Amino acid sequence: MKIAIFASKGYDRESLSAANIQYGHELMFYEPRLTKNTAALANGYEGVCVFVNDEVCRDAICQLAEGGTKIICTRSAGFNQIDLEAAEACGIVVARVPAYSPNAVSEFTVGLILTLGRKIHRAFNRVRENNFELDGLQGFEIRDKTIGVIGTGRIGAAVVKNLSGFGPRLLAFDSYHNPEIKHLVEYVADINVLAREADIITLHIPLTPETFHIINAETIPFLKDGVFIVNTSRGALLDTAAVVEGLKSGKIGFLAMDVYEEEGDLFFQDLSSKVIRDDVFSRLLTLPNVLVTGHQAFLTDRALDGIAHTTLANFAEFESSGQCTNALTAKDTRGN
Ligand code: NAI
Repeated sequence: MKIAIFASKGYDRESLSAANIQYGHELMFYEPRLTKNTAALANGYEGVCVFVNDEVCRDAICQLAEGGTKIICTRSAGFNQIDLEAAEACGIVVARVPAYSPNAVSEFTVGLILTLGRKIHRAFNRVRENNFELDGLQGFEIRDKTIGVIGTGRIGAAVVKNLSGFGPRLLAFDSYHNPEIKHLVEYVADINVLAREADIITLHIPLTPETFHIINAETIPFLKDGVFIVNTSRGALLDTAAVVEGLKSGKIGFLAMDVYEEEGDLFFQDLSSKVIRDDVFSRLLTLPNVLVTGHQAFLTDRALDGIAHTTLANFAEFESSGQCTNALTAKDTRGN
C-alpha cells in the first residue's frame, strides 16, 4: 500500500523502514504534522500514518478522503487526536497500536518518581559544576509512601507491578479491576479515598470528555498536602494553570509530567534558540520540584519495533481484507 507518514522523526524512519522489509509497503516520510494545511501532502495515498500531536480533525479528514485515503493508522495507543466520527462519516477506517510495550511507559513513570523523589536531576547538574554539596538533595523512600494509581489497564497494571517491588502501599481506582494485579493493590470504589490518602498519584487513563482536567482547581484541595502528581498519560488530564497555583501554594509538593496539554506547539522539536511564548509552561520550568520530559515515555527500542510492526500489519490487513483487527469505531471517542 502507498502510505504517507506524517510527523516522522529519524527513529520512525529507521524502525518503520526496517519492519517494512516484511510488508513491502511504499512509504513516504513527511516531517510536518498532519493538519488541515498539510493534508494535501497525502493526495493519492491510500494509507496515512499519524502520531499523537497530528491534528486529525474533520477538515483534515475530509481532505484525506477526497485525496483517496481509505485508512489512517496512528502509531500510538491513545487516539484522542483523531475525530473518529468524522472518519466514520467519510468512510475512512482508523486503527491504532493497542499495546506495544506498556512496560516502556511504566518504567519511565517509575524513573520520574525516583528522579524527582531523590533529586537526581539536581544532583546531575551540581556534580557537573564540581558542586558535591548534599544540602537540599534529601529525598524520600517509595516504600514509605501510599501510591494511588488511576487507571489500571495495560500501563497502570505494569506500573503497579513495577512499583510493588519497592514495597509501598498501593491504591487503585478503575471500574475495571484488573485480575493481573488484584493481589498487589487495594481497589477503592471512591476516587476521593485515593485522593485523600495517596502521597503519590499517577495517572494512566485515556483522555476523554470525562477525564479532561480531572485534576483541576476544584479537585486539588481534596488531595493530600504535598502530593506528588505524575502524568505520563495525556496532558489535558491536568488543568495545568490550576496545578501551577497548587505548586506555588505548596499544596502540590512535586509534579512529574511527560505530557502537556499544549504540547502540540512545543514537543518533538528543537526550540532551544526560540522564545517560548507559553507562560504557564515557562513557569513550570522555573520550579525546582517539577520535572518535565517531552513525551518520551514510550521511546524504547522494543516499543518502536512493536509500533512499527503493528502499524504496518494494520495497513497490510486492511489491504488484503478491507478490515482491521485494531480498528476503532466512533463510540471509542467516549470509551477507550
Ligand atoms: P488501557 O486502555 O489499557 O487502560 C486504560 C484504563 O483506564 C482502563 O482500565 C479504563 O477502565 C481506565 N479508565 C478510563 N477512564 C477512567 C476513569 N475516568 N477513571 C478511572 N479509570 C478509567 O490504556 P493504556 O495502554 O494503559 O494507556 C493509558 C494511556 O496512556 C493512553 O490512553 C495514553 O493516553 C497514554 N500513553 C502515553 C504514552 C507516553 O509516551 N507518554 C505512551 C502510551 C500511552
